[in-house]
Amino acid sequence: MAGAGPRKGKKDDNGIGTAIDFVLSNARLVLGVGGAAMLGIATLAVKRMYDRAISAPSSPTRLNQSGKRSWEEPNWLGSSSRLLSQDMKTNLSRSLQTLPTESSATDTDFFRPTKPKPSAKRSQVELKKSRLRLSLQEKLFAYYRRKVAIPTDEQALAKQAAVDICAELRSFLRAKLPDMPLRDMYLSGSLYDDLQVVTADHIQLIVPLMLEQNLWSCIPGEETIMNIPGFYLVRRENPEYFPRGSSYWDRCVVGGYLSPKAVAETFEKVVAGSINWPAIGSLLDYVIRPAAPPADLTLEVQYDPERRLFIDFLPSLTLGDIVLVAKPHRLAQNDNLWRLSLRPAETARLRALDQCDSGCRCLCLKIFKAVCKLNPALGHLTASQLTNVILHLSQEESNWSQDVLADRFLQALKGLIRYLEAGVLPSALNPKVNLFSELTPEEVDELGYTLYSSLSEPEVLLQT
Ligand SMILES: *[C@@H]1O[C@H](CO)[C@@H](O)[C@H](O)[C@H]1NC(C)=O
Ligand SMILES: *[C@@H]1O[C@H](CO)[C@@H](O)[C@H](O)[C@H]1NC(C)=O
Ligand SMILES: *[C@@H]1O[C@H](CO)[C@@H](O)[C@H](O)[C@H]1NC(C)=O
Repeated sequence: MAGAGPRKGKKDDNGIGTAIDFVLSNARLVLGVGGAAMLGIATLAVKRMYDRAISAPSSPTRLNQSGKRSWEEPNWLGSSSRLLSQDMKTNLSRSLQTLPTESSATDTDFFRPTKPKPSAKRSQVELKKSRLRLSLQEKLFAYYRRKVAIPTDEQALAKQAAVDICAELRSFLRAKLPDMPLRDMYLSGSLYDDLQVVTADHIQLIVPLMLEQNLWSCIPGEETIMNIPGFYLVRRENPEYFPRGSSYWDRCVVGGYLSPKAVAETFEKVVAGSINWPAIGSLLDYVIRPAAPPADLTLEVQYDPERRLFIDFLPSLTLGDIVLVAKPHRLAQNDNLWRLSLRPAETARLRALDQCDSGCRCLCLKIFKAVCKLNPALGHLTASQLTNVILHLSQEESNWSQDVLADRFLQALKGLIRYLEAGVLPSALNPKVNLFSELTPEEVDELGYTLYSSLSEPEVLLQT
């Protein structure tokens, strides 16, 4: 059992460090050193440290002299150096020292099952809790007004620019490529659902391909060697009766499958190559240009001297009741896969829930979106992941009145950390789909670490 025993360092007086070292080294033997697993273990270690300290007669921040040293640099931080940089260690160590103490904790149930407390003390704690919550509640609303909400005139200008350009493109494609089988393009995305945050800067232009239903079929990603639920291959069928060329889209078939990349390239040529954007721009009084690579299918529109809108072309197709979009998987080896379009249904469900009870789910989502947009360490989190965290929480919590925004915000934050710990966030609409499947283990660690560090003082998330 080499390596499984306690480490030699004896600087801790209360045995916490030793216990955590033991947990870590054993877990490593059992689980191997996986990224997400290590985060889970680190988190587990912190929870245990916290549990032990809180069940001791005095709380960690009240530990004086003797106890203090072991909190300054917990032993176990040294154990996962592959994953935690020095900077992170310092921060996490600092964060450990400010973990909520028993009487000031806003919510300790994440760390341990609630223990019965003497009732006088409990009511005091409740009072303190509600005061702390009120202040977070106020801070969330202030943050919403200051950073999250986009002024209505800005939204209107951005939408108008998108509508104008969409109209131009429609008539251009109809004139120049009359045989390309497309349905009418339409605008979509958070700017249309009033879920965009911070600034009105992006919108999607959905370009629906018309496919012959007898010539194409979808193969779910989990039935392919890539084994990725939530993605599909689109196979060309019946080539013996309907030879290559029977369908316009045969030109985008690679190895028997309709390639989203080839479809995108077809549009790229049109968008970047053959449209005279400067002329159209001066006609409409915008500055329009194709965005810099790698955003090949994106137009950059300056609709106001200080504001720019990015319009993403998103080829889309429908086979039976399955809607797919040509938004590539983050890993290049999967670039032949089409992505299942879940956003419209997720957004509709969230809105419908809010409409039933005048709830604050969308508000909560928008605050999270802004936090992630403004905080580079959280940039890898997507609107879809955040939406699903809130949809899952909606199944546990029925009361989403505006008065409980801070509670729900904290619950969603903790939920997100738990999903990161597990490395799996199932889609609320399609549980087979893991919405973290495109994150690397290192990204999961970084996100988990950043969010975990914020738990003791969630307000730090609002300071960007
Ligand atoms: C530590 O405890 C001593 C008495 O035991 C006290 O005088 C001192 O102020 C305490 N220090 C801190 C930082 O709490
Ligand atoms: C650590 O904290 C400092 C100051 O709070 C911050 O500037 C830095 O980015 C943090 N580092 C990490 C890795 O979170
Ligand atoms: C929801 O919670 C708030 C605050 O605790 C309370 O005032 C309200 O009555 C609750 N609503 C429902 C429908 O239970």
